[in-house]
Amino acid sequence: MAEPDAVQTFENGLAEIRGAYAEALRAARSEPELRLINGRYVGPQGELTKLLKLMPKLPGEQRRELGQAANALKQEIQSTFDEALQSIFRGAREAELNGPPLDVTLPGRWQMPGRLHPITRVRNEVLDIFVSLGFDIADGPEVELYENCFDKLGFPPDHPATDEQDTFFIGATGSRNAESVLLRTQTSTIQIREMMKREPPLAIVSPGAVYRRDDDATHSPMFFQLEGFLVDEDVTFAELKGVLTLFLRRLFDEHIAVRFRASYFPFVEPGGEVDMSCVFCRAWEGDRARTAQCRVCKGTGWMEILGCGMIHPVVFENVGYDAEKYTGFAFGMGLDRIAMLKYGIPNIKLLYENDVRFLSQF
Ligand code: DAH
Repeated sequence: MAEPDAVQTFENGLAEIRGAYAEALRAARSEPELRLINGRYVGPQGELTKLLKLMPKLPGEQRRELGQAANALKQEIQSTFDEALQSIFRGAREAELNGPPLDVTLPGRWQMPGRLHPITRVRNEVLDIFVSLGFDIADGPEVELYENCFDKLGFPPDHPATDEQDTFFIGATGSRNAESVLLRTQTSTIQIREMMKREPPLAIVSPGAVYRRDDDATHSPMFFQLEGFLVDEDVTFAELKGVLTLFLRRLFDEHIAVRFRASYFPFVEPGGEVDMSCVFCRAWEGDRARTAQCRVCKGTGWMEILGCGMIHPVVFENVGYDAEKYTGFAFGMGLDRIAMLKYGIPNIKLLYENDVRFLSQF
């Protein structure tokens, strides 16, 4: 049903929208703003959309004309919108071109690179030295048989190291017999394994993890050792001294003095412990006052670094070697301890906490 003032309302509406739209758009500064304004007029709930819904109420003779006028306005709005959008894009592009240039010489974004763990570094250095002397590298299991860890190395059955207080047994506890399974307490097991596999002459080093029920500032229940041994005819203690002295001097400092003290390990005879000049107070430089104050060597100028000896004939018999024909030497050291001495690390736990603030210092 046509309403008499509908024509008027419609015409006024078109004029108002035309003016208001142009004005609103001029104030817009960004694409989202522009789209928001556009929606207010030509969106589903927009002003023009609402006005167009009045069309059926217009008298027939004017409906066509007013319809065309409304369409023209719609197109006008569309092209005003497109222009405004282009002008915003142009503005942004110009600002970019006139802004400071892209500096391709700026450093890239920093990615923290990984690095080798101090124990791995020390292990590699130690292996390099022994490989340069002609030693082979061997590996062996961390889960071991009791006999390889103790019996065949000449430990008597009641040796304190075999006690559950000291050793992690796997499976049935309390059964200290040859087939009992345990976490190896020392890399000396490699002596047994390699000698049972190979005939002399042989020279082998073997780094690896070992396990003991021990836990304080200088002991960790898991730590790393390196075992070395050499078997041939006519091997003497002089060769043992020569190899170890050369090794320690290459690893720490060419000036260090080395001394051998008698000690006991079931699988060597004679057995010894090796001390070297303290690398913290640099005892070889002879500054007695400095050495007297050194907390690492407790003023002695010496520090204990490894165990060694001539392989016990019992070990050769246990692996089927002719103990009359062959002699050999063996040595064992803690890689953690060497890393601690080399890098001045006060607490073994630091090596296993995986704190990057600590690890990134190496
Ligand atoms: N296995 C010994 C330990 O864990 C270290 C050791 C001492 C190894 C003397 C040897 C050696 O080969 O001859 O304490």
